[in-house]
Amino acid sequence: MGTIIDLSRAESYLDREELKEARAKAASVCRALYEKEDKDKVLGWRTKEASVLQLAEIKAKAEEIRREADVFVIVGVGGSNQAARGVIEALPRPEGPEIVYLGNTLSPYTIRKTLEGMEGKSVYINVIAKNFETLEPGSHFRILRQWMGSRYDREEMARRITVTGTKGSRLEEIAAENGYLFLQFPVPVGGRYSAFTPVGLLPIGAAGLDVDEYLAGMAAACQDCRENGEDNLAVRYGAVRQLLYRRGYDIEMLVSFEPRYGFFAKWWVQLFGESEGKEKKGIFPTASIYSEDLHSIGQYMQDGRRNLIETFVSVKDPGASVVVESCPEYGDRFDYLDGMDFAEINRAAEAATWEAHSRGGVPCIRFEVDRASERSFGELYYYFMVACAVSGELMGVNPFDQEGVEEYKRSMFAALGK
Ligand code: PA5
Repeated sequence: MGTIIDLSRAESYLDREELKEARAKAASVCRALYEKEDKDKVLGWRTKEASVLQLAEIKAKAEEIRREADVFVIVGVGGSNQAARGVIEALPRPEGPEIVYLGNTLSPYTIRKTLEGMEGKSVYINVIAKNFETLEPGSHFRILRQWMGSRYDREEMARRITVTGTKGSRLEEIAAENGYLFLQFPVPVGGRYSAFTPVGLLPIGAAGLDVDEYLAGMAAACQDCRENGEDNLAVRYGAVRQLLYRRGYDIEMLVSFEPRYGFFAKWWVQLFGESEGKEKKGIFPTASIYSEDLHSIGQYMQDGRRNLIETFVSVKDPGASVVVESCPEYGDRFDYLDGMDFAEINRAAEAATWEAHSRGGVPCIRFEVDRASERSFGELYYYFMVACAVSGELMGVNPFDQEGVEEYKRSMFAALGK
């Protein structure tokens, strides 16, 4: 197991006995997660067996996309694109198709610009929509089919379109009627828990990233969560954030000093926001990328209302080196940096922020990975999914539904005459 957690600066806000009790409770919720029957059909993400479907087909299609496409369009919104995007945008990729995202906006400007960017290029698409009822991916699929229809014949189009949806959905029927490859979105997996299903796997493979390593990360975290009772990372994190919540810490900010974790942070916000924010409960999840955001939100973190938890995602090896060379002739007064590597400078900024914020009254938590890699993303995704499921249960909400999201849709559909 590569990921480690440092809870010392959060546990210091809590009472020992209370912490012991909370960990035991969280461990029992976690154990039940693996032992109970999945009656409500929401736990398909727990194991590799239930979530990793059609791997051979996915790998073959990913190879073809890499070989043939100039542009690969991932059409999906929320849980249907965030996990893949989190890894794809963070890791260096071998040469291959440009990856673009649609199905996640209603902005005509963005749609038009994306279509213009595809002009004259070889395009493959993957439409991901669990029940094929969401407006954004559904409407974009129509636009893209029409766009492709005027450039490719029926057979060529069939090769270039892959759809990922649930069995029995209209999307499956459309795939069968038109000869598109159909990948399963397992019924017992909600969008935001779909990182290890075909929803995440085809885009990650088509981006040229190592799907097996990613799944190895998942397997390692899964083993930790199943076998290590009170000591696994998800339980330890889940217990501490629940206790802090009860003490009035109701905002949690995920922060990273690596901008490439920006889309990962968006995934994390969605996971916790949609899973916990219900029945007038929940820790409000938000995210910042430092050091840029230290110059905006940093003031509030240091000195604002004390209801904040700060969760750092740290990367030991940044994977690059930039040394500040000395140049006395400029007299810019930055000579104290001479000879230093930005790896060291960034690390110093992170350590200073951790110190200052925790001293200023912010419980700080740190997840640390050795380096950004398929494996470490596999671990992080899995740990946070289990922690979220455990945390939701402890909070007394259903972490697997999202009834609240339907509310705005009802008004929107009424306005659009659905
Ligand atoms: O986590 C969730 O369930 C949601 O965020 C969904 O992923 C999102 O609403 C997209 O749903 P669908 O795949 O049905 O279009």
